[in-house]
Amino acid sequence: MKTLEADVKKAFDWTRWAKSGPAVELEISIIREMLKVSLFPGVISFGGGLPASELFPTEELAQACLGVLKEHPADSLQYSLSMGVPLMREYLAARVSRNDHPVTVDNVFVTGGSQQGLDLIGRLFLEKGSYVIMESPTYVGALQAFNFYGAKYCALPMDEEGLVIDRLEENIKKYSPRLIYVVPNFQNPSGRTLSYRRRIALVEIAARYNVPVVEDNPYVELRYSGQTLPSLASMAPDGVIQLGTFSKLISPGLRIGWICAPPEINKFFEKVKQAVDLHTNTFCQYVIAEFAKDGALDRHIEKIKQAYAHRRDVMLSALQENFPSHITWTKPEGGLFIWATLPEGVSALKLLPEAVKEKVSYIPGGPFFAEGGGENTMRMNFSNASPENIVEGMRRLGRVLHEHAKI
Ligand SMILES: Cc1ncc(COP(=O)(O)O)c(C=O)c1O
Repeated sequence: MKTLEADVKKAFDWTRWAKSGPAVELEISIIREMLKVSLFPGVISFGGGLPASELFPTEELAQACLGVLKEHPADSLQYSLSMGVPLMREYLAARVSRNDHPVTVDNVFVTGGSQQGLDLIGRLFLEKGSYVIMESPTYVGALQAFNFYGAKYCALPMDEEGLVIDRLEENIKKYSPRLIYVVPNFQNPSGRTLSYRRRIALVEIAARYNVPVVEDNPYVELRYSGQTLPSLASMAPDGVIQLGTFSKLISPGLRIGWICAPPEINKFFEKVKQAVDLHTNTFCQYVIAEFAKDGALDRHIEKIKQAYAHRRDVMLSALQENFPSHITWTKPEGGLFIWATLPEGVSALKLLPEAVKEKVSYIPGGPFFAEGGGENTMRMNFSNASPENIVEGMRRLGRVLHEHAKI
């Protein structure tokens, strides 16, 4: 028996088997690695992108769980449809129609978070060498999802109005992209919002060249100031795949998101989804539908918006007070992030150990740039720290920057 075990161990050299697959070639998320410093004792972290856990609606979710088990004991614990539980899809169709643009149940497709939506899109649209046009910086999880299918990127610059459109057409002609990927509201990582006129220009150009647009929209309902802008999907429902999620509205641990897309594309997503995981967690879909009915979700969103708006304002004032005047930062109207730009030549990555010595952390911006660069940028999250910690953390970070980020 002992000899057999030893032989088996010897035979299973996993790297030999997995060597040629993309999973082995992919780099581990540098962001997840860097976030480990946030766990050091006493460190005030602005690193993650987490919602505030103390605001999770635990009581209401507990009631919803009991309600579901009472009302739908069999269906909620059973296998369910790949496109999503009908109750959830009906709720989502009504919600998107109320908040965004008119859709039917056939337009909505439930996913295991938006991250799974990105993966399903990658599976369906991308192969080795396919180009994706995206913002620079962009959401790093999209890069991870699309890298898996061998995507290449054309990353276009952003300014205060979001993606700069001037060179979009020229780059579509040059690269024949399979997709244009944007996070138009309070973007992760920059906090910027795509302006109305650029939204129109973007969908017009995409339609002219027949390039599908992916509108990744996890933060749209977390607006604290300014006017809500029409979504890209509302402007071009036939040419846009919109992603939504309950991660930032209720809890990321539930892992429920959705795709809103033309029904003919959803039929393809259905086939892909069946191969991936059969369907999204049935019970969580029921729980969210139960929690959301009678307006509890909307009330909860109002509550977190108030708290996050306050944290954003506290961070903006603390930045003003503590950061050297040659450093600039975005002033987001919503979402979870503020993005700062340090002087050219100062590396936010190299500065991180100095910050950790002062017991504060952030995420260096470099990994958010698909084509490299951006070493002098950093992302700071304001939703997951208390206002007191934001004030203290910004004091600490200000000291580090005064010392190490001189012009
Ligand atoms: C732009 C963007 N897309 C997608 C996601 C993934 O969200 P989910 O938890 O729904 O998978 C995030 C999470 O931070 C995000 O910022």
